[in-house]
Amino acid sequence: MLKATLTATVLSLTMASFAGAQDYTLRLSHGDNESNPTHLTAVKFQELVDEYTDGRVAVQIFPSNALGTETEVAQALRMGSIEAEILYTGNLVPLAPSAGVLMLPYAYTTTEQAHTAMDELIDPLNERLVPEAGVRALGLLEKGFRVLTTNQPVETLDSLQGLKIRVSPNDIAIKTFQAWGIEPLPMDWAEVFPALQQGVIDGQENPYTTAISSRFYEVQSDITEIHYMMWTGPLLISERVFQSYPEDIQEAVARAGREAVEYGRQVSGELTEEAKAELVERGMTLHGAPQDEEKWAEAAEALWPEFYSQIGGEEWATQAIKIINSSAQ
Ligand code: MLT
Repeated sequence: MLKATLTATVLSLTMASFAGAQDYTLRLSHGDNESNPTHLTAVKFQELVDEYTDGRVAVQIFPSNALGTETEVAQALRMGSIEAEILYTGNLVPLAPSAGVLMLPYAYTTTEQAHTAMDELIDPLNERLVPEAGVRALGLLEKGFRVLTTNQPVETLDSLQGLKIRVSPNDIAIKTFQAWGIEPLPMDWAEVFPALQQGVIDGQENPYTTAISSRFYEVQSDITEIHYMMWTGPLLISERVFQSYPEDIQEAVARAGREAVEYGRQVSGELTEEAKAELVERGMTLHGAPQDEEKWAEAAEALWPEFYSQIGGEEWATQAIKIINSSAQ
């Protein structure tokens, strides 16, 4: 029901032209389709920017990678040739390694902890994102744990063996699956559905809401809650573009970004519950956590020190881990 209402609103707002005297156009790219919480967050940002800038900034949304892959668009943000993007952290890490602290496997145990940690991390993270990739995070979205969808049941580490699982092209995901005993296939997001359909891969990992919005139930039968990582992703603006705005517009856009992300987190939580029920209705089997989840966690957590050099160095990793750990209390 929530989804139906939101989808109708989204469609009308995406089509809307926000006519009026606009001083700036801000193109916002993302990789999901229009029923995904990423898009709902983008639409909320569009509305809030319009409101807080009195229509001086027009946000145009480009869903489904229409402007390029998530990593390509992040590169364009550095140049300022595209203004804004919401993307999965894993697809930003190749350009901005420090964002990898958001992806340490099994770092978060609850959604609340993740929100507190992300809100504490955003300022120190921005001090690193700007020099690393020429981008600034206005907020950090979270869409729930990435769950494993497969074409056969996976209830233990043993039953994962031999499966061809796609991961996003970043070292943390690749090494984690290697520690679980398989060789994952790094692949761009746009290629995942056809690869599942053609049997090139047996599975992938993304949140429940993505399994619905990307129709994975048509090509996958089972879901395991591996809890290793949340889908986190920044709402980014090009630093070059941001610095070209007058101060009042900067403040309005920053406020709109923070609030849009808060909205996106809340909607994601609600849609995740709806998605689970719908996936069962559509014939998928939800297994919950693996029976031997502690083995998965142990193998992945042992990798943390190995990641430090790739996520901005030991000093930054230690600072970030302290923030993440204190958010659990
Ligand atoms: C990925 O797996 O590449 C991302 O999670 C896709 C997305 O941005 O939703």
